[in-house]
Amino acid sequence: MKKIAIAISILAVFSMTAWSQMEGGRMGGPPVYSQPYSPEQDAYLNELIRISRGGQLYDNWWKVAMDADKPEKSHPLWMEQSTNQRSGYDTYRCKECHGWDYLGKDGAYGKGSHFTGFKGVYEAGQKMSIEELQSVLGKKAAAKKHDFSGHISTDDIADLALFIKKGLIDTSRFVTTEGIPVGGNERTGSYLFRRNCAHMCHGMAGAAINFGDAEKPEFVGTIASDNPWEFIHKVRAGQPGTRMPSAIINEWSEKELLDLLSFARTLPRDVSEIGSWSRFRGGMGHRGMMHGDYSPGSGRGFGPSME
Ligand code: HEC
Repeated sequence: MKKIAIAISILAVFSMTAWSQMEGGRMGGPPVYSQPYSPEQDAYLNELIRISRGGQLYDNWWKVAMDADKPEKSHPLWMEQSTNQRSGYDTYRCKECHGWDYLGKDGAYGKGSHFTGFKGVYEAGQKMSIEELQSVLGKKAAAKKHDFSGHISTDDIADLALFIKKGLIDTSRFVTTEGIPVGGNERTGSYLFRRNCAHMCHGMAGAAINFGDAEKPEFVGTIASDNPWEFIHKVRAGQPGTRMPSAIINEWSEKELLDLLSFARTLPRDVSEIGSWSRFRGGMGHRGMMHGDYSPGSGRGFGPSME
């Protein structure tokens, strides 16, 4: 009997201690689990995620926004120009009018088939407040035709404004107007590529995902060589609608972007250049995430087209 009484009292003391510890955790005592982030760090990370999402919306909002309808007719502002012959949804993409370098007519889209004569957004990002940037895209837009609120949500517009305010970079600091990167280190870039891009997705040759089609394949090397500004934008924001990581969220430096771009320009741009690279095949992505019958340059990747 005595033994039972002792056992019960030990149990009682034990459970009371356990209870008080639990309460302590809940009532603001030392937390049971350590928290990885402070509220400030959490808010900071959340902002980076929103900036990168804004960048993806800028690229291709229809792939990012929830329940958005894809416009079929051309953008109402499209009539104000006649040099860019594209039509339909393409004319609704921010990048089509304002450029991958954010400089519009004063940048890479100042000539060629993408020329519209519309200005860029880089200056607006420097001069306008987030609220002003939001209103350019909303119902109160001075240019009524620039109102996107019928297509995307207020949250989307807020993320776009945040991207334009805090997410734009001046690529002219490290890419010439001809699109040549200046001062990049290919060796460091090759390391960055292997570590971040090759393994699961793009393969060692950057050819494991074809963004084009079988006839006209586009690989990492193609974009890096033909359109370094698009390359930088996509590396930073991530490819809309895919799991591609974002250099904005991962806080890459400009130097890292430059090194990666310099290396990526040495990768095959089309099937004929794959040559000795072919022994590397498609990296892990070849098995894990691609179509079973994929082979480099076959035009069968899992990625969406780069448009
Ligand atoms: C069809 C072409 C077109 C598309 C698509 C387009 N814009 Fe514009 N955008 C314009 C024009 C034209 C102006 C007015 C420029 C002016 O004031 O002369 C403008 C102005 C702006 C401005 C203000 C620039 C300034 O300096 O006053 C911002 C910011 C902007 N656009 C962001 C965006 C974003 C973000 C998107 C994508 C959701 C977008 N635009 C899509 C054509 C376009």
